[in-house]
Amino acid sequence: MMRIILAGAAIAVGATVVLAQGDPIATRKQTMKGVGDATKIGSAMAKGEVPFDAAKAKEILQVYANAADKMHNYFPESSKSGGETTAAPTIWENNAAFRKRFDDWAADIKAASAQTNDAESFKAAGVKAGDTVIVYCHVGQQATATLLAARSLGIEARLYDGSFEEWSRLDGPVEGK
Ligand code: HEM
Repeated sequence: MMRIILAGAAIAVGATVVLAQGDPIATRKQTMKGVGDATKIGSAMAKGEVPFDAAKAKEILQVYANAADKMHNYFPESSKSGGETTAAPTIWENNAAFRKRFDDWAADIKAASAQTNDAESFKAAGVKAGDTVIVYCHVGQQATATLLAARSLGIEARLYDGSFEEWSRLDGPVEGK
């Protein structure tokens, strides 16, 4: 079964490469559509609307990683317009900054992948069997990776989406180290 799925994936990637050579606009739109579709599943899992599935979470991160790696190639100068692109002109005006966003995205994905199934960091934080973990960060975005990591280990977890931004505005108590 696994072999069939992997073979299918290889064919899909091959098709994308062929398309990129001829039509970068269609290819980047198709790549981003894949990212959008994967995100819909990931956000349903994060919200608890569908049961958490660790293998699916890894697949989603893999879709992101492939996109972050390949998208660089799909913005040649010749593709500023045409093909119903919605890409902003600033992409080419400040191309280094645009490319850096893909690099930063790739780094975030790598960090999220490393956290998945990392039982030791939860143990080190004092999490015991049966505990419910509340995760937070600055504005609730990076904490989503920790939420998925906890659920991948079967640890019950909730996201404090207001995170530190809201907590500090409410003057909530803070422990220093
Ligand atoms: C999880 C993160 C992301 C999601 C869910 C997402 C989703 C999407 C979707 C749904 C589209 C429309 C595709 C279509 O027209 O059918 C799109 C287009 C686009 N995205 Fe993303 N995206 C993500 C990350 C990024 C990042 C990190 C960048 C840049 C650094 C980026 C740059 C673009 C650009 C430039 C387009 C327009 C392509 C064109 O019309 O030529 N996206 N994205």
